[in-house]
Amino acid sequence: PTPPLKSSAVLGFESIAGSKTDAVAIPAGYSAYVLAPWGTPLNTKAAAWKADGSNTAVDQENSVGMHHDGMHFFPLNDAADDGLLCINHEYIDEDALHPNGPTYSTDGKRTVIDEIRKEINAHGVSVVRIKLVSGIWQVVENDRHNRRFTAATVMDIAGPLAYSSYLETRYSPDGSQTRGTLNNCGNGYTPWGTYLTCEENWPGYFVNNGTLTEDQTRIGISTSDTRYGWTHLAGDDEERLDEFSRFDITPTGSSATNDYRNEANGYGYIVEIDPYNPNSRAIKRTALGRFRHEGCVFGKLEEGKPISFYSGHDSRFEYLYKFVSDAPWDPADANSTNRLTVGDKYMNAGTLYAAKFSEDGIGEWLPLTLDGMTTDGKTLADSFDSLEAIIINTAGAADLVGATPMDRPEWTTVDPFTGTVYLTLTNNSKRTDSTNPANPRLNNNFGHIIRWDDGETATEFTWDIFVFGSPADGDAETNLSGLTDLNQFASPDGLSFDQRGILWVQTDNGASEVTEETNDQMLAIVPSSMLDADGKQQVLTADNQTQLKRFFVGPNGCEVTGFAITPDYKTVFANIQHPGNWPYSDKADEITPAGITVRPRAATVMIRKNDGGEVGI
Ligand code: FEO
Ligand code: CA
Ligand code: CA
Ligand code: CA
Repeated sequence: PTPPLKSSAVLGFESIAGSKTDAVAIPAGYSAYVLAPWGTPLNTKAAAWKADGSNTAVDQENSVGMHHDGMHFFPLNDAADDGLLCINHEYIDEDALHPNGPTYSTDGKRTVIDEIRKEINAHGVSVVRIKLVSGIWQVVENDRHNRRFTAATVMDIAGPLAYSSYLETRYSPDGSQTRGTLNNCGNGYTPWGTYLTCEENWPGYFVNNGTLTEDQTRIGISTSDTRYGWTHLAGDDEERLDEFSRFDITPTGSSATNDYRNEANGYGYIVEIDPYNPNSRAIKRTALGRFRHEGCVFGKLEEGKPISFYSGHDSRFEYLYKFVSDAPWDPADANSTNRLTVGDKYMNAGTLYAAKFSEDGIGEWLPLTLDGMTTDGKTLADSFDSLEAIIINTAGAADLVGATPMDRPEWTTVDPFTGTVYLTLTNNSKRTDSTNPANPRLNNNFGHIIRWDDGETATEFTWDIFVFGSPADGDAETNLSGLTDLNQFASPDGLSFDQRGILWVQTDNGASEVTEETNDQMLAIVPSSMLDADGKQQVLTADNQTQLKRFFVGPNGCEVTGFAITPDYKTVFANIQHPGNWPYSDKADEITPAGITVRPRAATVMIRKNDGGEVGI
């Protein structure tokens, strides 16, 4: 076998100090500007963003959504100064979205229809044309590519669940479509130029006041209420608007097409979007499983070999998954302009697996197919009557085959030099009594990053733990990677390699031992530069931890999430989600002055070197 390739990238900035201000912090020699904050108009149907929160639902439908998360930059005409930024909008801050927060009747019902519509429209995905003008990226208002996908946008269903009885609804009696995408957290993209948005905490948007089905119980659909109360609307005539009632999936009628019992079955997927074709519909790729998808990345491509896609299920004790396409990769497909047809080829048929991490760094991908073996020596066919049934209850099937319960699988990313796949395990404070080799810490408040290499067959892999989160002053049992004040972190979440081999790690912090010292942040490291003379990968230890450098710190109250980079590596984009009192101005590192309270706006931050060079090196 050929030895793994080594990146020659060397981080060219000094690790910055922790920061706790209403501003971002960046290394010396860099500038950071706010780009496409929540409420930025995308076309002429939207009024300009208003600082008093009075923009309408129609404004919101035609403006950038709220709570930016995963994203990707798609160049136009191969340019590094002109392209489309696709941005996820995970959820909303109702207090910031409306002038005085949401309005309720005295008996706890939503009273303002436009408020709920505005909330629905603040979710989803934005596609935004951006251009670099005099060193600063600008949104191109009214560009034909600009568009919004919201929690109400019609989307196609593809893969095994398309046209199945599980997807038959009042809206789509043949089971071919659904409405909206929700809780779009991590993201991915494909080798053929499409965007993948991932549906994470969608179960919280639905309620079933009756008896939960097996899959609803397993995924955690509520029996009492929805996240923002969209289903209980006040009104004399008791009229219930279909656009909101559909989130109440209690069976009330005689069949799936005269109530909303199947509405949630349209959520929990990887959703493919062709940003280059503004007339295209988004497609939900059901073959990749139905769970709380955090992200979705493809493994190292090899001509003539299937493509693997990896996706974590972010919840305590949930699993890591891989989908392997039936179709072998044909590099000519990278240049197709029928991108969603290429998506059909690779993402509708294949095999879904759940990961089992065994002792000694050995792992096994367990097939979630009817003949997949269960831990009691039977097969999934003994518990499920079809592949569709397995997919609807993906996590339930993974329980039966014996997948390894993890400490909240978040993003995955692939080292472009070695092909090694990395996964953030953000934390798991409820791991109180049993560890496993891949999740070795009880009460894992600080999280860790695990990685693996798939073997020669589709079912084998080898793995190790790359770095453990910790406060710098943690004891030897806690600070296992020897972190210092200059790189201590906890709750790793966003995770992206750039093509130079730099790994960017973003945090979504819950651990006070670290948040006392710094806000959420983005760190960088070049793992493949650490290969030893035999080409063996090294883990982060006290001996080499200075290779992990803090590059960026977010403002108070936020998490840092979502990474994109231009093809010339001269601009990095990172998202600020749920800031407390920011941004004060277009300069992202300008501190909101004491005594001033701004309406907080999630936003993308563009980061460039003042000398115009590549970011990071
Ligand atoms: Fe939305 Fe798992 O972070
Ligand atoms: Ca996340
Ligand atoms: Ca998180
Ligand atoms: Ca978040």
